[in-house]
Amino acid sequence: MVTVKQRGVTIWLTGLSGAGKTTISNALEQELRDRCSKIEVLDGDVVRENLTKGLGFSKPDRDENIRRIGFVANLLTRNGVIVLVSAISPYRDIRQEVKQKVGDLIEVYVNAPLAVCESRDVKGLYKRARAGEIKSFTGIDDPYEAPINPDVECRTDLETVEESISKILAKLESCGYIH
Ligand code: PPS
Ligand code: ADP
Ligand code: MG
Repeated sequence: MVTVKQRGVTIWLTGLSGAGKTTISNALEQELRDRCSKIEVLDGDVVRENLTKGLGFSKPDRDENIRRIGFVANLLTRNGVIVLVSAISPYRDIRQEVKQKVGDLIEVYVNAPLAVCESRDVKGLYKRARAGEIKSFTGIDDPYEAPINPDVECRTDLETVEESISKILAKLESCGYIH
């Protein structure tokens, strides 16, 4: 019997806190479960509780966090897994480094204006950052370098979660990762 192997790919969601990375990742995971057998999710908040526990939010720590996530994503991708990464990953140079290592990687810019992310304030972190209780908060007193040429851009202030997911699925199809 001839079996067709699933091609692995990392779908890398980058964007500000509150832009919609986790929401899109969770919804995309549900959608992909019907079509693909091997899916793993690496979410910044979760990864920071185990794989990268103890790291903070300085540039060296964020870079280390992203490199470790990239390392795991690479192992999984080359074994035919569809990997959903949702991490702010604010620095262009490290995103580029990971993309080169993994190869099969779709960069998705989850984009909403800072004012929208702040008004959502899903976890109350912006309020705390504005009050000075959290230092080096992305978009407030820490940089976010937007992708210049992402594979997919989701404007989550203008489109629904379903529309964002459709764009990503269309890209995966056109690149031959799913059918
Ligand atoms: S990074 O920059 O990629 O290493 O960050 P990441 O691993 O995705 O972790 C981001 C989540 O950590 C929480 N948090 C902060 N975010 C940004 N800046 C600061 N200072 C900060 N402190 C805590 C926050 O819950 C982020 O998750 P999301 O889902 O983006 O809101
Ligand atoms: P992040 O993981 O990037 O910090 P979250 O997914 O935790 O962001 O929060 C995004 C918030 O924005 C959620 O409350 C979600 O319901 C809302 N939202 C509104 N429209 C969208 C959209 N098109 N895509 C993703 N999230 C959206
Ligand atoms: Mg999140």
